[in-house]
Amino acid sequence: MSCQIETMTPELKAFIVEWKSKPGNLIMVLHKVQQTYGYIPRNIAIETAELLEVPLAKIYGVVTFYNFFKLEKAGKYIIQVCMGTACYLRGGDDLIKEFERQLGVGLNATTSDGMFTVEAVRCLGCCGLAPVAVVNGNVHGKLANSDVAKIIEQYRSLG
Ligand code: FES
Repeated sequence: MSCQIETMTPELKAFIVEWKSKPGNLIMVLHKVQQTYGYIPRNIAIETAELLEVPLAKIYGVVTFYNFFKLEKAGKYIIQVCMGTACYLRGGDDLIKEFERQLGVGLNATTSDGMFTVEAVRCLGCCGLAPVAVVNGNVHGKLANSDVAKIIEQYRSLG
């Protein structure tokens, strides 16, 4: 888990104070936290709990329930491999394992250089191209394990 210490921005603090007494505030605030940092940093979760006067466990309960929220800072390039039915049947599972193997990370983890995060996602809506992986919004379709090295290199070379 990331140990990075982030600073709460004045804008975020004002947002939390504004939402403090409104219903459904916790989800709204956590969305704002993730929008600000790209994930939910632990020290910001602690400050948020204090500002909202809710137990920290409640915040982590929400964060872990919705897989939308991330507890670690994502890599510069997020490789989302589709695990929808069409992609799964055409080797999506193997594709994920190949990305993990070549990058030396597990699922939902980020390489130590901060470059890549590998995620499994639901149908991306382009099943005709199965199996599919999307990297920062760019679709790569009809993939084979032999394409993995090329894709990694393509993004690594961009820096
Ligand atoms: S199942 Fe992968 S894009 Fe639809």
